This record gives sequence, structure tokens and C-alpha cells, in this order.
Amino acid sequence: MTRHFLALHDYTKDELDALLALAADLKYKQKAGVPHKLLDGKSVALIFEKASTRTRVSFEVGVFQLGGHGLFMPSANSQMGRGEPIKDSARVMSRYCDGIMIRTFGQEIVDEFAKYSDVPVINGLTDLFHPCQIMADLQTVIEHKRTYDGLTFAWVGDGNNMANTWIEAAAICGFKLRLACPAGYEPDSNVMAWAQAKAPGLITVTSDPKVAVAGVDVINTDVWASMGQESEQKEREKAFAGYCLDDALLALAKPDCIVLHCLPAHRGEEISDSVIEGKNSVVWDEAENRLHIQKAIMATLIK
Ligand code: CP
Ligand code: NVA
Repeated sequence: MTRHFLALHDYTKDELDALLALAADLKYKQKAGVPHKLLDGKSVALIFEKASTRTRVSFEVGVFQLGGHGLFMPSANSQMGRGEPIKDSARVMSRYCDGIMIRTFGQEIVDEFAKYSDVPVINGLTDLFHPCQIMADLQTVIEHKRTYDGLTFAWVGDGNNMANTWIEAAAICGFKLRLACPAGYEPDSNVMAWAQAKAPGLITVTSDPKVAVAGVDVINTDVWASMGQESEQKEREKAFAGYCLDDALLALAKPDCIVLHCLPAHRGEEISDSVIEGKNSVVWDEAENRLHIQKAIMATLIK
């Protein structure tokens, strides 16, 4: 059966840990110049219905480093952008390619694509989830803290695709997560219900960022208006007043707390320049790890 990577809830803790271990090994090999051409001669299509810097470059370079070939496909330049049905595109593309990554809007689009694809489909971000990013974030946490076990994580900001994926990660991996989101911008209720059933009491939601970050080991934030929500920017700036991760808020966490941001960042909105550039920030390691974890995901799924 073809295995996809659409959402973390399809994976066990052991499977996620195995991906993280392989990512660390591939990172070591890449830096040491040890060949690791696990996708020799394979082709992976990279479909983008939204903008990207990190996802595009890390997937394309990652496939190349594994000995394969990445095809950058902005959907606006393909027949998908002109309305060719997802199920037709999936069946055709999976006859040419050995794997397919998609960045799009609704989660149902990647689900539909995967349903009709004979080759692994990887979610490169939807409105609901960003699983590759949270895996890179976990790799970064392990590098800086040795393990995620026993740590407390905070999320400050929008209950968006990143927040929803952190909720799934916390429930699967078993770490504590406190989210601070303004009223009306809470995480997806179905994701929360699933997580609360799987791991009762591990995940809490408050509207007070100070409560969320008090004494935590890891703080993560993200833009207030995600891709596709640009027209809401002004009203979101009002709703998120007081949610900037600045020095005063960071001071409430543990002194060695690490700060994550998936990037791109809006300095002066969700994060201050001093925090993203400061000693607690690990955002550049985090961005780099997109490369290594996605190589691990592709090498594991694509046969
Ligand atoms: N973090 C992330 O997914 O970045 P891009 O939008 O640049 O791909
Ligand atoms: N929440 C952001 C993440 C960007 C990588 C968005 O969806 O635009």
C-alpha cells in the first residue's frame, strides 16, 4: 500500500522518531560528504498553489542530494491551475513521477490527490496542517535540548496550520503544549478534539500569552495572517495586539528557552527583531532542518 505524508495523525510516535533519527543521520552524511543517494534516478514533482522559499528550495535541493530529480510545478502554469480535476492530475502525475509534494489550500485537496495517486504524496502545507515544518522543528528541538520528552512547549499567535500541527505532534509524542490565541482565532476544533481524546490534559488553550509562556522550554510563533488571508491583515493586527513575542514575554520563559519561527517572519508584529535575532532564537537551524527531515521523509516513503 502506498504510504503518504499528509498529516502527523497518520503516524505513530515510533514512526516519527524514526524519521527524526534518519534526518539526523542524513544531516551528518551531507555535512561529512558521505554519499547517500537513496533516491537514485527517482523523480519527485513539487506542486505549488501558494508562494514558497524554504519548501521549494529544500525539497528541490533535497531530491538532488538524494540522487533524484525535482520538478518545480507552480500550479498556475499547469492544467491544474486551469481546473483539470485533482483526481485526473493525480493519476497522470503518478505515472510519471515516483513521489509528489503539494502545497495548496484545503486539506481535502491533498487527501483527494493522495486517494488517486499510486505514488507517495507529501503535504508541503495546507490551510490546516504543515507537517514537514513541525518535523523540522522537532529535529531542531532535539538538537538543542537532546530530546522533546519532558519539555513544555508554547504557541503564541494564530490557531493556524502550524498550531494545528503542533497539537497533533504533542498528542502523538506526548509533550505538554500551551497555546495562546485571541478569541476567534483558536486552533481547529476537530484537531483539538482528536488530540484531547488521544492525550487528555496535555494541551491547553488560553488567550493570555503570559500564561502560555511561563516557564516553558520552547516558544513558537508565526505570522498573524497566513497565505490566503492577506485581506484580513488589518483586522488581525488589531485582534493580535499584545501577542508579539518580544523580550518582555520571552523573559517569562526558562532562561534557556529556544524560540522557533517557521519563517517568513514579520518583525514588529508576531516577533520582535531583538528576539528573532537574539540568543534564544534557533530559527536558522530550524530552516536548515527542512532540508534534512524532508530528505528523510522522501527516502522513507518513495520506493
Ligand atoms: N516555512 C515555510 O514553509 O517557508 P516557505 O513558505 O518559504 O516555504
Ligand atoms: N502559517 C503560514 C506558514 C507559512 C510557512 C502560512 O500558512 O502562510
